[in-house]
Amino acid sequence: MTATTDVSAPGAGAATTDSPPVVRFAQVNKTYRSVRAVADLDLTLYPGETVALLGPNGAGKSSTLDLLLGLRHPDSGRVEVFGTSPRQAIVRGRVGAMLQSGSLMRDVTVRELVGLACELHPKGHPVDEVLERAGIAEIASRTVNKLSGGQEQRVRFAFATAGASDLIVLDEPTTGMDVSSRQTFWGGMREQARQGRTILFATHYLEEADAVADRVIVLHRGRVLADGSSAEIKAMAGARRISFQLDGPLDETALRALPALTGIEISGRTVRMRSTDADATVHAVYGLGLYPQGLEVTGLGLEQAFLAITDAAGGTAPADEEPTR
Ligand SMILES: Nc1ncnc2c1ncn2[C@@H]1O[C@H](COP(=O)(O)OP(=O)(O)OP(=O)(O)O)[C@@H](O)[C@H]1O
Ligand SMILES: [Mg+2]
Repeated sequence: MTATTDVSAPGAGAATTDSPPVVRFAQVNKTYRSVRAVADLDLTLYPGETVALLGPNGAGKSSTLDLLLGLRHPDSGRVEVFGTSPRQAIVRGRVGAMLQSGSLMRDVTVRELVGLACELHPKGHPVDEVLERAGIAEIASRTVNKLSGGQEQRVRFAFATAGASDLIVLDEPTTGMDVSSRQTFWGGMREQARQGRTILFATHYLEEADAVADRVIVLHRGRVLADGSSAEIKAMAGARRISFQLDGPLDETALRALPALTGIEISGRTVRMRSTDADATVHAVYGLGLYPQGLEVTGLGLEQAFLAITDAAGGTAPADEEPTR
């Protein structure tokens, strides 16, 4: 399968492409010694989009978000946030962020720490409101070093929503959260999106991307491998799986030449295929004069689509294996 980057329109959210972009990466490169973490990256986010950044470990997700937040600087290319530098956008309070790593201050209470974030934000919310929304009002008097991993994540989330930012950037926000915390978290994020905020989040939970994002961007070795709505990504990977058994003689060459195929596996009498147009493929099977038995046509989940796309691009090996150009 050939993965493409041409499905670039935003998904079904409230996003508009008429307004000036929220984020613009133009030919951005970032290399750490021999590792090309971000490679010739072009990326535009529009107001009101909720965008999921997917990719295997080492794909460059955190590096991309760090560049967007001005925590790292590109070796070449340009990063703009609301038409200015990332630093300017942050100083103006337009960006709220939740990072994947970085330790929190340990010896203060949750309320003190979140209160500080609210005070420092140019458009800060009242601390009680932020604590409530992050689900940490009950543990507000606890010192930060006594928190569980999931509770720490919620404090990080409180940081990201401490003020009325127009863009919220989240790096693997729900890692370590239990199921109900994740549901509460995404409920809160949907509310932020309804208020017109742009949300960009990196995740390994593909069901989150499927359920929450208008637009899914698959990164691989620092490049955009696929960009579109979750339905478009699935279609790109071969939207349908077809399987059947054949009783008579099996002409492998003819099967491999069927229309719309993106993959085929033949094992004994069983044929399993992926197709971008199941109707055309199945029709052609009958056209070969074959009588498929136990015919099944099923949809491809985002997870399988993701694996198909990254496999086609050379598997999920980290960027380290690609030499620097
Ligand atoms: N400070 C650094 N020094 C050297 N290499 C780095 C540094 N930060 C990131 N890298 C490398 O850059 C590549 C991209 O890393 P990045 O953290 O952006 O990936 P990621 O997509 O966020 O991965 P994960 O899903 O594991 O969080 C990796 O190969 C990583 O080892
Ligand atoms: Mg990361």
